[in-house]
Amino acid sequence: MHVVYLSPGFPAEMPLFVRGLAQIGAKVLGVGDQPRSALPPEAREALTDYLQVSGFGDEEKVVNEVRQWLRGRSVDRVECMWERLMYLAAKLRAAFEVPGMSMEQTLVFRDKERMKQQVERAGLRVPRHGRARSKQEAWAAVERTGYPAICKPIDGAGSKDTYRCNDAAEFEQALKLTAHIDELSIEEFIEGEELTYDTVCANGNILFENVAWYRPKPMILAQNPWISMQNIVLRDIHAEFPRPGVELGHGVLKAMGFETGFTHMEWFRKENGEAVFGEIGGRPPGARLVHAMNYSCDIDLFRGWAEAACFGRLSQDTTKKYNASMIFKRAQGEGVVREHRGLQDLLRRYGAHLATIELTPIGEPKRDWRKVVVGDGWIVVRHPDLATTLQMSEAFVNDLVVVAS
Ligand SMILES: Nc1ncnc2c1ncn2[C@@H]1O[C@H](COP(=O)(O)OP(=O)(O)O)[C@@H](O)[C@H]1O
Ligand SMILES: [Mg+2]
Repeated sequence: MHVVYLSPGFPAEMPLFVRGLAQIGAKVLGVGDQPRSALPPEAREALTDYLQVSGFGDEEKVVNEVRQWLRGRSVDRVECMWERLMYLAAKLRAAFEVPGMSMEQTLVFRDKERMKQQVERAGLRVPRHGRARSKQEAWAAVERTGYPAICKPIDGAGSKDTYRCNDAAEFEQALKLTAHIDELSIEEFIEGEELTYDTVCANGNILFENVAWYRPKPMILAQNPWISMQNIVLRDIHAEFPRPGVELGHGVLKAMGFETGFTHMEWFRKENGEAVFGEIGGRPPGARLVHAMNYSCDIDLFRGWAEAACFGRLSQDTTKKYNASMIFKRAQGEGVVREHRGLQDLLRRYGAHLATIELTPIGEPKRDWRKVVVGDGWIVVRHPDLATTLQMSEAFVNDLVVVAS
């Protein structure tokens, strides 16, 4: 099994997927724009070979470089977990005639309007929506969605350039702020909780599924630097709270014709229990959510994905044992971290249920949470009981202060 893996060293979790592939016995042929010496050790050790390309900008050129490098060697898979290189991966698959997402399928996963149309055609609930390539189209779209509306890039990420608009004046302002973006998606604003529905699939079968609950919603988090994010992987995904999203997710995967790999869907849960589609990626979630899923089942999904992608199965016991709440801390104040206030007391109270904790060490500069997703701290607490998990999680949010000055 020979797997071409795009960008094995970046972003952060790629080396873990590469290691997973090596662990299940695949030969991994890495293609990246970093020098081999700059690759993180997990990636370097797991690779059978590595090609440094001059850049990823010119896709035809990369295809030719890879073709020359591989001359005479067989390729069974082309894998890519980085959103930015998903079209390139599809091109390479076409060039080497290997299975996996085609160009056409990739487009539907990357373009938020085509995505919603495809889901809508299957009779599933999506926000009212419209595509806008000009101010005129934007006003026509908001006419259909009504207020409050959401204005966001057609292929955005990380809640960047995303605005809620309560009326025409705010919409006008949002159009000004997004004037640098070629294409927008305008949506009806959905009031409710925001959750994920994530899977590992093979040949159209769901081998692993997961629901995580964002608190607060990602857009609120992107706008409020002092908030600690919680993302709670739920143990019982068939309970009343997550179930509508699981059902929606099944329909969405079918509508998208998804076959093999990781998926990451976001959905809204309205107060009346209705699930509304948000978006879906044909890739794993970022921001350490795969780690949190691992902690909820005591498994390694980096390896689990690799086995699914290469051999169509997932042989680990993926029974969910815990609710696992992951918290990202942002230091209060500016400058250097001086104190982990409240930590000792929290460790005394909840140490037995702490799966992992990493805080910016005292004496080191506060991190920029816009660049480092975990900010100044990464904590996972877990417990079979959801209410207990939420209580511990809130305690780490409220009673732990990473103090900078
Ligand atoms: N229609 C909507 N209703 C309510 N909130 C939304 C809507 N669309 C986006 N948001 C908010 O903005 C965030 C970012 O939007 P999303 O479509 O997930 O783009 P991305 O994650 O790629 O930046 C969401 O996580 C959600 O909090
Ligand atoms: Mg999103």
